[in-house]
Amino acid sequence: MAIRRILRMGHPHLRQRASDVPLEILGTEPFERLLADMKDTLHDYGGVGLAAPQIGEGLRTAIIELPGGPTRYGELEPIPLTTFINPVIEVLSEKTAGFWEGCLSVPGLRGFVERPQHVRVSYTDIQGLTQTLELQGFPATVVQHEFDHLDGTLYIDRITDTRRLAFEEEFNRHILTT
Ligand code: NI
Repeated sequence: MAIRRILRMGHPHLRQRASDVPLEILGTEPFERLLADMKDTLHDYGGVGLAAPQIGEGLRTAIIELPGGPTRYGELEPIPLTTFINPVIEVLSEKTAGFWEGCLSVPGLRGFVERPQHVRVSYTDIQGLTQTLELQGFPATVVQHEFDHLDGTLYIDRITDTRRLAFEEEFNRHILTT
């Protein structure tokens, strides 16, 4: 296990479409090591999710760990640390909601992004089983943000009003409090 360096915006690997994970690599030592590295890296940097391309691995895999309870996004249902392999998102309602997002690959910034707020995720778990998960509100935003990384998309690309892009320090001082 190791803490890996997170690639930052401008690195070409963040802009490539990741490949499907061949299911025969599940449970193998290199893939298990990748997942362990992703968890170590997420916990070291702090954050709610990490996609494999962010550490330079072009595979359709992301991990998400969302603490529950009261947050600045309201009262949240927790998502325990979950590995999503080859995830697919189905939008269940076109109704959108906006949240201020941040990204470990875009450090120091926050941007307001509107996304569909009711989605179903289908994915393969680490045992190779197909799972589905229905999410609403901020957790729906989190999965869309993470899975966008698998297509080479950053949240910055989805900001429709660039006046709502801010440095974290100014965000905390002027926006979070209003
Ligand atoms: Ni991100």
